[in-house]
Amino acid sequence: MPKRQTSALHAHDHRASTLGESLTPPLYLTSSFRFGNYHEGTEVARGEHPGYVYTRSGNPTTDAASQVVSVWEGAEASLVLASGMAAISASLLSLARPGDEVLMSPVQYGGTYAVRHGLGDAYGLKFRFADMTNLDEVAAALTAATRVVLVETIANPGMVVPPVDRLGQMCRDRGIALIVDNTFATGYLYQPLADGATLVVNSATKYMNGHGDTLAGTVSGTAAAVAPVKALVSQMGSIASPFAAYMLWRGLATLPLRMGAHSRHGMVVAEGLADMAPYARVIYPGLESHPQHQWVREHFDAGQAGGMMALELADDVSPEAFMDSLELFSRAVSLGDATSLVEQPGSLTHRSLTADELGAAGIHPHLIRLSVGLENPDDLLQDLRQALLSARRAN
Ligand SMILES: Cc1ncc(COP(=O)(O)O)c(C=O)c1O
Repeated sequence: MPKRQTSALHAHDHRASTLGESLTPPLYLTSSFRFGNYHEGTEVARGEHPGYVYTRSGNPTTDAASQVVSVWEGAEASLVLASGMAAISASLLSLARPGDEVLMSPVQYGGTYAVRHGLGDAYGLKFRFADMTNLDEVAAALTAATRVVLVETIANPGMVVPPVDRLGQMCRDRGIALIVDNTFATGYLYQPLADGATLVVNSATKYMNGHGDTLAGTVSGTAAAVAPVKALVSQMGSIASPFAAYMLWRGLATLPLRMGAHSRHGMVVAEGLADMAPYARVIYPGLESHPQHQWVREHFDAGQAGGMMALELADDVSPEAFMDSLELFSRAVSLGDATSLVEQPGSLTHRSLTADELGAAGIHPHLIRLSVGLENPDDLLQDLRQALLSARRAN
């Protein structure tokens, strides 16, 4: 009879099959997987027998979340990583070699912009920039050394929407990989892989998880395109924890309901602010006034445009007073949560950009980013109106 010190550690010993079938994916909060015998272990490790060895290279909970991500992105394979930045860095490094050029937009998430120095300098990558909505400018910026073009479906924070289908064609014709960051749209609104993207990445921290309580990133594509990313991720150790993957799986269950509501609320807010034009101009892809609205109508599911928008405050509206007067929008970075968020990109998410880069991205102190949440949209509209009114008066 083993001593209690031993029994306590082995009390949970069981084979999962004896416990009945869990309705939801079990949370495999384990670093390693136990083998029944010597042969099973060596066969699983060699890939000759299905199973898992070590969570850094594979875990059933993480795989359960990856499978749902693949459904939404229309992908053969997906990975769930530690964060959106882990997804972007691993994707870039899986495709580009020292000396290669990467073409990006001047309008994109500040953390992705920062890669031009950190990863770029460390790995000998060169970064060029072009307005991704201007295909002549894109074509002129591509060189024999260009290996990757990286765009955001709806670019952060200026809400610029590049024609991914035409960029996909251009990249395919030249043997260049196209990475699309689908964070603002998610595969629910738009599937870049169907329009020629090589890899799609998401900060699943945002809409995919949707509750603001988890950091995660995803990479999706063909099995052949995702395999080298998986190998790199295993080496860099940037896989998601099983707990984060579980939270993502749970959030994804309501993705269509949430994205539908974010899109409806976004439209109510954007249209409702039309008569506040002397106070603020709304930049939202769901509005006809948006330069790429027609493309969005034709390519996004039911023309829905999500919950992200930018406000360009009039000169006599104080950004500080506007943000401080809001009662329902929390002053916070990130986006895609159930609750509404407001931030000033120039001082927060994009603060690492130089003055010239901020200018090229159209970021100035009066540009404010809104993440429209799941509260009643009329309440949100009223909150924005009162804040605009009091910010002008306060000036
Ligand atoms: C468009 C976009 N891509 C990537 C990221 C990075 O994601 P994470 O914070 O999960 O690393 C962000 C973060 O705000 C983002 O807005």
